Amino acid sequence: MAAPIIRRALLYVPGSSSRMLEKSRALNVDTIAYDLEDSVTPGKKAEARSNLRKLLEQPRVKGIREQAVRINSVDSGYALDDLTEVLKAPNIDALVIPKVNSASDLHFVTDVIRHTLPHRHSSNDQSAAHPPLRLIALIESAKALIDLQSICRATPYLSGLIFAAEDFALDLSITRTPSLREFLYARSAIVTACRAFNLPSAIDLVCTAYKGEQGLQTLNEECVDGKRLGFNGKQLIHPSQVEVCQEVYGPQTDETEWAMRVVIANEKAEKAGRGAWTLDGKMIDRPVVGKAEALVKKAELCGVDVGALKDRWSTQEPE
Ligand code: COA
Ligand code: MG
Repeated sequence: MAAPIIRRALLYVPGSSSRMLEKSRALNVDTIAYDLEDSVTPGKKAEARSNLRKLLEQPRVKGIREQAVRINSVDSGYALDDLTEVLKAPNIDALVIPKVNSASDLHFVTDVIRHTLPHRHSSNDQSAAHPPLRLIALIESAKALIDLQSICRATPYLSGLIFAAEDFALDLSITRTPSLREFLYARSAIVTACRAFNLPSAIDLVCTAYKGEQGLQTLNEECVDGKRLGFNGKQLIHPSQVEVCQEVYGPQTDETEWAMRVVIANEKAEKAGRGAWTLDGKMIDRPVVGKAEALVKKAELCGVDVGALKDRWSTQEPE
């Protein structure tokens, strides 16, 4: 079975910067999106493609959970050359597709990967060694936002949506403010579409502040806000942002503990024929148990020792 997907942090690394590419190998991060799009100037596209191909031919490093490439948009004139080069490398797990404006952008990429990597995309050989490439779509325009349903239905490989605030603001002629209020509708629509179409990742806007205490404070506030809206990850531009982001979007100790207590007590409540019961003075019923089960699963995927937690709370009873 393919490894489960956890993308609390998605860090962009410009494909044209040998120094940053080298640095990225030492990081502990859920997803790296090696970039061929906006952080690479037109004159450097070819060099960046070849850098990425070489990098993704190297053995995997332990700290990086998922290696993705952000190609150029389908209408840029660069996308086919990007795909032709980077799909030759064996250790590529996902593609980030910018400026997805309609389902046809994803149809194009899906056709190319099916023809280029038939061993990964034929329905009878989806072995653990060669899982299908995952696609993550960037939503950055008004058109994309009103077409979310057809975008989500466009390809079986879609694994998440990303909200791109800067291009979206440009498209709508709006100015980003610290409150992010102007993006509320778009962010909420994206999260809702991910849930409705069962896509594992809803990834929030980039925090452009990364310097010093103030930068990390802003990042922390944005992560908390995004998590409340239902995002489960965030785009990052600098290694200094990874820890805060993975911490906020990761399982919180008190949350995981509560979830384990609910799961354990629920088994006992069910045996006693009780669908609704109480813990710490609050009612617990099926949706709350479902949420607790999801939290325990996520904690496990993020490396928490849930076995030890289970032992610790084995005597938890429903009130
Ligand atoms: N990935 C890997 N390494 C990175 C990095 C990144 N995204 N951003 C910075 N670094 C490295 C730098 O190379 C530097 O390494 P060094 O100390 O060995 O020289 C170190 O981290 C500290 O970097 P710093 O000096 O604080 O930043 P900078 O001025 O070198 O770079 C940015 C700042 C914003 C230009 C850079 O972080 C960047 O290009 N980020 C990605 C931008 C991007 O991809 N945008 C498109 C998507 S929105
Ligand atoms: Mg963009």
